[in-house]
Amino acid sequence: MNLQLGVNIDHVATLRQARYALLPDSPNAEPSPVDAAEDAKLGGADSITIHVRGDRRHMQEADAYRIKESTDLPINFEMGNTQEMIDIALKLKPTYVCLVPETREEVTTEGGLDVAGLYDELAPTVKTLQDAGIKISMFIDPVNVQIEASAKIGAEMVELHTGCFANAEPGCERSEELDRLRISAVAGHKLSLQVNAGHGINYENIRDIHAVPHLTELNIGHSIVARSVRIGFQQAVAEMRELMQGYKSEGKPV
Ligand code: PXP
Repeated sequence: MNLQLGVNIDHVATLRQARYALLPDSPNAEPSPVDAAEDAKLGGADSITIHVRGDRRHMQEADAYRIKESTDLPINFEMGNTQEMIDIALKLKPTYVCLVPETREEVTTEGGLDVAGLYDELAPTVKTLQDAGIKISMFIDPVNVQIEASAKIGAEMVELHTGCFANAEPGCERSEELDRLRISAVAGHKLSLQVNAGHGINYENIRDIHAVPHLTELNIGHSIVARSVRIGFQQAVAEMRELMQGYKSEGKPV
């Protein structure tokens, strides 16, 4: 089976919110996450990932419903373990939910979910969502205790947090992190978990990800959105230039 690509389109909404957060119904509100989901599909995405955060900094609840309605790709709904998000998930009915830690201050999801430590809080959420036919993924650091806890709680999948590997943050040695990912992928596979990975994967470090066995899906967002600006900016400028043609200016450049 080919490695599946889940495209996280949150940062398309980040860009829209930067200008239109206070004008959500403006016809000018762009870029559209619905269009992004369609473009992702045309580019070969296997699923669409969206994260409605408690602070609504990028995706809005309405975006989630619109995207779900407009695409036939599976939706991976990332969410914190709150009643508000459980209610949204039950209404949205994504193909799967990825449970992530979420605090208001963080720039993005930092660190994996402590499934082992939060077991009793997470178990009822897992059951509620699974009873509604939604599969569960746990976004965890690549450590054995979290993989075992994810299997024990009944999750179908784990998403191994590749942020430490990708960003080589202070205290993270890249090759050691890659080893941790490999060992964790083997452990997850042995426990019959689907093993996914994501966070910070880009057009350069993707090569190393090939060394991690048993992966089913990668979830990638920021680098794809960033690359689309790099490869699409020239054309966008040229199109605007074209639309400016034909104006007979009497103004004088100084
Ligand atoms: N997986 C999870 C659980 C995430 O929270 C994120 C970031 O929103 C990603 C994958 C995608 O990370 P990136 O945007 O760095 O590719």
